[in-house]
Amino acid sequence: MRLFAVRLALFLVCTALAAQELPTIRIENGASQLLVHGKPFLALAGELGNSSSLTAAEADTILPHLAKMHFNTALMPVAWNEIEPAENQFDFSIPDHWIDMARQQRMHLVFLWFGSWKNAFSEYAPAWVLADTKRFPRAIGIDGRPLEILSTLGQQTAAADSKAYAALMAHLRQKDATEQTVLFIQVENEVGVLGLGGRDRSAEADKLFNEPVPTQLVSYLSSHRDALSPELAAHFHPGVGSGFGSWAQVFSDAADEIFMAWHYGLFVEQVVKAGKAAYPLPMYMNAQLPAPFETAGDYPSGGPHPLYQAAYRAAAPSIDFYAPDIYWPDFARWVNLYRFAGNPVFVPEARPDVAPWNALFTIGEARGFGFSPFGVDSLDDSATSPGHAISEAYANLADLSDNILAAQPQGKIRALVLNEHDFRPSQTVALGGYRFRAMLARTWPARELAATTGGMMVIETAPNEFLIAGSGLSVDFTRDPDTDRQIAGIASIEQLTFADGKWTTARVLNGDQSDQGRRLLMDGKEFHVYRVKLYVY
Ligand code: DGJ
Repeated sequence: MRLFAVRLALFLVCTALAAQELPTIRIENGASQLLVHGKPFLALAGELGNSSSLTAAEADTILPHLAKMHFNTALMPVAWNEIEPAENQFDFSIPDHWIDMARQQRMHLVFLWFGSWKNAFSEYAPAWVLADTKRFPRAIGIDGRPLEILSTLGQQTAAADSKAYAALMAHLRQKDATEQTVLFIQVENEVGVLGLGGRDRSAEADKLFNEPVPTQLVSYLSSHRDALSPELAAHFHPGVGSGFGSWAQVFSDAADEIFMAWHYGLFVEQVVKAGKAAYPLPMYMNAQLPAPFETAGDYPSGGPHPLYQAAYRAAAPSIDFYAPDIYWPDFARWVNLYRFAGNPVFVPEARPDVAPWNALFTIGEARGFGFSPFGVDSLDDSATSPGHAISEAYANLADLSDNILAAQPQGKIRALVLNEHDFRPSQTVALGGYRFRAMLARTWPARELAATTGGMMVIETAPNEFLIAGSGLSVDFTRDPDTDRQIAGIASIEQLTFADGKWTTARVLNGDQSDQGRRLLMDGKEFHVYRVKLYVY
């Protein structure tokens, strides 16, 4: 009895301590995990449109709609001009209402701090900032005219942005530190200079550009030379001896962009530090990615994309991670570039039309802690809308989340995505001693493609037993020749449903539905979870 009482007391103390732990992000054995109240949480998220969260009333329609579509997290703008319309007069009533409504819907939020910059420009800074170009100077374009972009060199701008952001975080600590509805924060949005020249051309910026590159940056890049991206390594020539050259001497034709990356990094570091001093949630930056054949200035020059991210790491050590907004093809390559740069994996913006399958890749193959297509508040759940496919995928991923979160750090999860335009007709992943080869599903007897994109996540749940989630693929199984030379066979394939915390068999697939026991034939369109048992002889 006494032992029981001691155990109970210990349990209660541990639970109370876990309740106090703030959300954190860790990388464990290559898996990125977000811990909420001390436990891993899978963010099945979506980002709201830019003009959808700046009134309180919109929360009342948008959040119930998203909850119904199985989103557990919404990424939503919180703008500087919304919370500090007049200097030093703060109003948090709109984000507060969103938090209350999210709690009602049992959802989480991620705030996007639209402060000094959003998509390069400064539209979300308050009018009292934008109108006072002496106190809050603008970046200057190559034609000598001010841009609609606040300068990174404005010391009063950095101080004012930091003050507003810190006020938001202090308020959030008060309102939310116990419940933790808000999980983490994006600071600014897709920063960088747009326009010819790709650099602030103000007199002050020109002066700094012609001075020696700061020692802090050169030392960081020199001591991380082996980890630099190929693009940065190719442009970094600090020379030997004492004293460094100017930006153009050290970085040649990448100098304008790296100069901007450094100065955005310094500015945002100040904002993040002030925010964390008030309430230390994880904080990240997102980036617009350079498209093929674009040069800096076609895309925001100096943003934290993976090519020059090391400059940010030197300037802004308080940022927890960088995250890609992926609208370009080649989704996997972009995710991997961020991952290999050492970032925890989270995709805050992505195309909704291929979101279900890219979610599988992000969570199952890159072992990320979440995924978030863009503009989800304008998606509906009708059969032909991308919203329907996302909703189906998220419902299944929510059911699978315990399996996923356990399998990620153990390396017992894989995923792949196939598209009709891919160079190769099949892709293979290996797990648990087997190879899983997938091709796009075809109809029978016409043998037409049943889907233009398909994807699967494979989770090893026991020896020879796998949960496979996805749609649009046919999958065959062989023994992994690196394990042994045995032959693999299918013992059973079941299509599952989840209720009351348990998987139950909805259908047993065999005969024509398993190509006579030789393949998993996934539904062409509808997302399902299958249990596949294999054997060897
Ligand atoms: C990327 C930005 O970060 C978003 O806020 C939004 O503007 C999308 N582009 C495109 O609509």
